[in-house]
Amino acid sequence: MISDSFLQSGRILVFDSGMGGLTVAREISGLAPEVEVDYAADNGFFPYGDKTDAALQARLPDLAARLVDAAQPDVFVMACNTASTLALDAVRAKLDIPVVGTVPAIKPAASLSQTGTIGLLATPGTIRRTYTAALVEAFARDIKVIMHGSMDLVRLAERHAAGEAIPLQAFRRALEPLFVQAGAEAIDTIVLACTHFPLIRGELAATVPHAVSFVDSGEAIARQTLRQIRPGQGKGRGGGRVFVTGPAVGSRRLLDVCRRFGFPTVVATDIV
Ligand code: DGL
Repeated sequence: MISDSFLQSGRILVFDSGMGGLTVAREISGLAPEVEVDYAADNGFFPYGDKTDAALQARLPDLAARLVDAAQPDVFVMACNTASTLALDAVRAKLDIPVVGTVPAIKPAASLSQTGTIGLLATPGTIRRTYTAALVEAFARDIKVIMHGSMDLVRLAERHAAGEAIPLQAFRRALEPLFVQAGAEAIDTIVLACTHFPLIRGELAATVPHAVSFVDSGEAIARQTLRQIRPGQGKGRGGGRVFVTGPAVGSRRLLDVCRRFGFPTVVATDIV
């Protein structure tokens, strides 16, 4: 149900390494079509999931500040688990507007599970974070959490979103390391802890070895974001801009997908 408090204006900048944040932007616009949503992709540094912590820590706060300078949003959304589980505090410290992060939906998955065994699909970076371990400790202490960090799924999600025909076998192969682990036959709920993965929810559902429910943080992030907007914010410009850090010519595939998600206006930036 759409809450009345979401019927307001405001300007939001949704940020990810690539196309994954579009799944969060879609949730925001679905709940509050009148807010101005812009999108920023650090495609010049994509992917994040196999980068070192030091490389991401060195990049994210300054990049966030430069994007906020360029886009002038009221709220900055880090629509990336890999970035949020590492650098949310550092980005918050750098910006003087509310910052909403995206972290694995372990809590709802743990309460949804009937078998007491959940799967966690994320990037290798998110899987190894102490932040993720702390979420498991806080919300899934009595639950078996079976994890798999996959860069293949991130790349498959981008190719699929761009319209490439990919055989289901490729998704099955990428999922296999989750399901060969001890006790995996009891998984009844899988956390999609990378914002890219809702782009391939149907393909994942078609290739898991037994029926499971998928849980992601998209809607919760959207609600949390909309709660940050103050009455009267928003400039009436309409949103729809996309900021990229990669060269425009190499960003064609990303820009095509952004256009389909409602971001037709490319803003050239010198942010690299
Ligand atoms: N979308 C990002 C996330 O939520 C990861 C993609 C990447 O590896 O760049 O973790």
